[in-house]
Amino acid sequence: MQASEAEKPRIVILISGTGSNMVAIADAVKEETIDAEIVGIISNRPTAEGLNKAQAMGLHTDLIDHTLYASRDEFDHALIRMIEDLKPDLVVLAGFMRILTADFTRYYEGRLLNIHPSLLPKYQGLNTHQRALDASDDIHGVTVHFVTEELDGGPNAIQAIVPILDVDNAQLLQQRVHEQEHIIYPIAVKWFCEGRLSMKGNNALLDGNPLPDSGVQLDSRDQ
Ligand code: GRF
Repeated sequence: MQASEAEKPRIVILISGTGSNMVAIADAVKEETIDAEIVGIISNRPTAEGLNKAQAMGLHTDLIDHTLYASRDEFDHALIRMIEDLKPDLVVLAGFMRILTADFTRYYEGRLLNIHPSLLPKYQGLNTHQRALDASDDIHGVTVHFVTEELDGGPNAIQAIVPILDVDNAQLLQQRVHEQEHIIYPIAVKWFCEGRLSMKGNNALLDGNPLPDSGVQLDSRDQ
């Protein structure tokens, strides 16, 4: 039996740009692969392409322009109020390009997911694709993790490994990583909404069992 709308986990997705991960998750909800309700898409940038995509999908959108706030603290508290109006069970950061304060990350601890384009803990921060190439790594990838106070530092839920090819440059590598993002983010959100994925202390748990530091690892070479 399907859960009624009222009982479904409520998801809020935060974006700043293209919103392709938001679309991948929204598609999975629409196709009922994820049994949940997306109750709002929030962007901190008025020009975010993802806002148009969300509206075209019939999703509720909100805008909160960070440039109108005097401090990071004020912005984060206003953002919490906006999110709380939507009463979410899960908050998903999907290309949300703002560093969040500890007040924010503590408020949503255990129900806040992010996607980062590297095999965390490697390459926290920006320019991950170029950094993996500069280091002559053989493999690169992407991670979905719970968000804690430490930037890109919370426990990993799932990773996809992407091999680095001789012909690669940052743009080519980024494209292949992006394809994997659209696979693993809906999986992590589905697990969370089914009550299978949770966070305890600094561990991610799947079905109650602590995951390895990497999280569940998928290898794009096996697809
Ligand atoms: C992705 O590369 C993600 O890993 C990073 O921001 C980008 C968002 O892309 N955190 P999109 O807006 O979902 O297309």
